[in-house]
Amino acid sequence: MSYLLRQIKAKTLALISLAAIICVTAIACGGGASSDQAVGIPPEVVADYVHTTLAADRTAYTKHVVNRAKTLEGKEKDKGVLEIEATEGWENTDGIPLPAQMFRLGSEIATDYAADAGLSFSYNLISTWNLNDSQAPKNEFEKKAMEAVIETGEPYKDYQEVGDKTYFSALYPDIAVAEACVTCHNTHPIHLERYPDKVFEMGDVMGGVMINLPIEKT
Ligand code: HEC
Repeated sequence: MSYLLRQIKAKTLALISLAAIICVTAIACGGGASSDQAVGIPPEVVADYVHTTLAADRTAYTKHVVNRAKTLEGKEKDKGVLEIEATEGWENTDGIPLPAQMFRLGSEIATDYAADAGLSFSYNLISTWNLNDSQAPKNEFEKKAMEAVIETGEPYKDYQEVGDKTYFSALYPDIAVAEACVTCHNTHPIHLERYPDKVFEMGDVMGGVMINLPIEKT
């Protein structure tokens, strides 16, 4: 069941993402139309669409799958109906992945799908207080974007050059919207070891969703 869901989710995401990239490419190359005609969707709007899709999928997975599990990371849940545990160690314990892990699994598949299509589209969850080593802000752009998002609570969007490629990149705030976000992160052994002074509170920016749209230059 969860395997099937994962497959469907990943495929849907990949298709939507690829469609989004084609839109971006269409604007970048759309010089031929008359000036008073809309020639495509601006990249900032495409990024918003991709982000909406990712956020919706993560919420749907949390609400309709993870919340139905009787156990979350060793603790009993009130409204759980399924004899299953949502846990970080899901692969070793026959459990199901946490929403952030599900998000990363989708992102890894989407990167592969995009690469198969010859595109360097990508998205991922990052944080200054990352639990997973691969999810730290990695270049100057991501560090600057993460700082801005933590300070303003608003998305940060701009063009960036990576190697010989140009991207329109957008970072959307990932907010502590539930008590579980705060409790799980604040008590996680890695968090306690690396960021003992950082105590998340409800409503805090905990990280961000980074979306990189490759832009074709003409
Ligand atoms: C039961 C524990 C748990 C809960 C609840 C939880 N997280 Fe996480 N979160 C994790 C773990 C574990 C990771 C690392 C996942 C991975 O390996 O990709 C993570 C990753 C993240 C990241 C990426 C940076 C990093 O730490 O690697 C962000 C941002 C994040 N979570 C925000 C949230 C928000 C916002 C919520 C609530 C909506 C939430 N988390 C709920 C355990 C949790």
